[in-house]
Amino acid sequence: MIKTGLIKKKIPSTSERDFVHTAFWYFLESYIKMWLFGRSKRTTSFIKMSYDKDMKKFDKASLEKYLCKDSDDFYLLNDKVEYGSLKNVVFYLYKQLERINPRGTVVEFGSGSGRNLFYLKSKYPDVKFIGLEISPASVKQSKEMARKFGLDVEFYECDITKELPIEKADIAFTSHVLEQLPRTFPKALENMRGIAKDVHLFEPICELYPKNMLGITERMRIRVLDILHGLTPYLKEKNYPYSYQRLKAGRNPLNETVYVELH
Ligand SMILES: C[S@@+](CC[C@H](N)C(=O)[O-])C[C@H]1O[C@@H](n2cnc3c(N)ncnc32)[C@H](O)[C@@H]1O
Repeated sequence: MIKTGLIKKKIPSTSERDFVHTAFWYFLESYIKMWLFGRSKRTTSFIKMSYDKDMKKFDKASLEKYLCKDSDDFYLLNDKVEYGSLKNVVFYLYKQLERINPRGTVVEFGSGSGRNLFYLKSKYPDVKFIGLEISPASVKQSKEMARKFGLDVEFYECDITKELPIEKADIAFTSHVLEQLPRTFPKALENMRGIAKDVHLFEPICELYPKNMLGITERMRIRVLDILHGLTPYLKEKNYPYSYQRLKAGRNPLNETVYVELH
């Protein structure tokens, strides 16, 4: 029996089939309970509190360990659920961030621990990188780590759905942040479009997931945990031209990252 942090259930083996089946029945049960008894909605104070707590989990020994802790779990790569070192998928996902073509000033909306910006800064030292983040503990830690790793990245504490501390940038991007804003994501998106011409999103976009057992489980999870839905209908309604690509990869196999570029 394998323990995973992804669902509160042990998985009989490391096989894809066992993971998907266990997760499917787990979320089907949670989905039915949600309809019968309701569920609490994701709020700003809940997000702030949980990400403040999350900061304790980081290994701060070196930049590489900070970027990815050395542990095994289930992940999604090449559209397959695998079990093994998380480094296999995490560094693949970091590499995908380079699709934003970093130049000038780049702002990450919801920078968390700062790890995406540290990765990018180490590859593009001449680019200016700024992180905006609502959790005070995350901002404090990001600033400390920037000093420790000698990476010149700026961080500001702010709510990305409200007034921003900066007015202009060349590129704005998110990575798994709009997912936390199932009702207020349009405000964050308009703020991104307000400061930068180039907007890139790396988010779980359930409308684009496949219609197989894994895709159905992912959709149930999104409803149960109150995560982002309705992004592509919103872009269509507003007539915002965009292109997308499923990355077929996820640190959490139930939360595949999709890359969306707004034109
Ligand atoms: C899943 S984490 C992703 C962090 C980072 N982008 C990464 O890829 O490692 C989501 C982050 O979004 C931040 N966040 C959520 N709502 C926010 C808001 N309204 N304003 C700013 N940051 C927010 C959370 O505090 C958290 O750090």
